[in-house]
Amino acid sequence: MMRALSIALGTALLLAGLAWTVYDSHAAWVTFVAFGALGVVTVIAGQALAARRERLGGLRRQALTVGVLVAVQTAIVTALFIELMFVSPHDAFFTALVVVDAAVLGLVTTWAFGRRALHDIDATRATLGAATDGRRDVRTGVEGGGELADLAADVDAMISRLDGEERARRSLVAAVSHDLRTPITSLQLLADAIQDGVVDDTTARDYAARMSTHVRALSALIDDLFELSRLESGELRWSMQQVALGELVRDTVEAMRPEADAADVRVRAVIEADDPFAAGDPARLQRVLFNLIQNAIRHTPADGTVTVRTTRVGDAVEIEVADDGSGIPEAQRDLVFEPFHRADPSRTDGGAGLGLAISRAIVEAHGGRIWIADADVGTAVRVRLTAA
Ligand SMILES: Nc1ncnc2c1ncn2[C@@H]1O[C@H](COP(=O)(O)OP(=O)(O)OP(=O)(O)O)[C@@H](O)[C@H]1O
Ligand SMILES: [Mg+2]
Repeated sequence: MMRALSIALGTALLLAGLAWTVYDSHAAWVTFVAFGALGVVTVIAGQALAARRERLGGLRRQALTVGVLVAVQTAIVTALFIELMFVSPHDAFFTALVVVDAAVLGLVTTWAFGRRALHDIDATRATLGAATDGRRDVRTGVEGGGELADLAADVDAMISRLDGEERARRSLVAAVSHDLRTPITSLQLLADAIQDGVVDDTTARDYAARMSTHVRALSALIDDLFELSRLESGELRWSMQQVALGELVRDTVEAMRPEADAADVRVRAVIEADDPFAAGDPARLQRVLFNLIQNAIRHTPADGTVTVRTTRVGDAVEIEVADDGSGIPEAQRDLVFEPFHRADPSRTDGGAGLGLAISRAIVEAHGGRIWIADADVGTAVRVRLTAA
């Protein structure tokens, strides 16, 4: 308010100064009184209207009100000018015409600008409304720069993200239901057979053993899902320590040896002389190694080799799990880290497709990175952690 008032009075003073240099002190005095008074009244009226902006209604009516205020003020200035300057009726008539024309042209130009802005606002609002109603295929279509275009771009980006998240959630639910349905159907069939008494005792015991395998697989799947959702929501407690990676790799390789032997696969650990340390949760880092080594064993044919190697790269440590198996096609290298993704869905010997997703969540929670590196034969999965 004070700033607007000083601008109005300052302008009146400036114009009065101008009148003084061109005419005399009387002209300056009349100019200052007339313009000063008009300025104060206009500022007060403008501020009063601005304070009650929401009562005026939408932006269109607000713009119209401002237009009317400016027109009234211009009319008063003109009337004052005609009254004070003793102009002839002829001059007064044409001055009034000039003012009316200027006011109309001014309003038309302002309207053209305002219409574009209002169109952008309407488009953004309609898009938000459609998105609230659940639509995800809508975009504002607002282009160019400026605040309104930025706002519209933010709305578009938000809808795209919602769309992506919802798709991911839907496909996750579909994958979970599929993976639960298969063992549950088998369990139902086996239980029915035992209950109906159509099988002899030996077969019934065999069926019970199979049921217990299915139940174990189901509970492993549910544990993995739970782990993944806790990792993604970030509500896990980490027990961060200095982890001797060489020791961790050696222990994990030894723990996996029976599984490798059963598959006729050699598994070895290669530790760099300067045994690297990393800050991390040892149990969860071991979980990553288990997942990677298990994948490698699973995808390596009999007589193949799995090598787990640690190397120091600058101030980072890399652990590589390499095998000489079937490899992962280039196009699948990012996808295999998505939950439930299996490079070859027809294979039934694998797991649920959660191992790499869980591993990525663990590694990223450690501020590290996991990726499928280039390899001449087979697959090489690399994990990079900051060295401690
Ligand atoms: N060493 C590897 N060689 C070839 N393909 C691999 C290898 N590791 C992973 N993959 C591919 O990536 C997919 C995803 O691996 P991931 O560990 O996430 O799931 P999974 O092993 O199928 O199941 P889970 O780990 O839940 O038991 C696998 O199904 C497989 O197709
Ligand atoms: Mg796996």
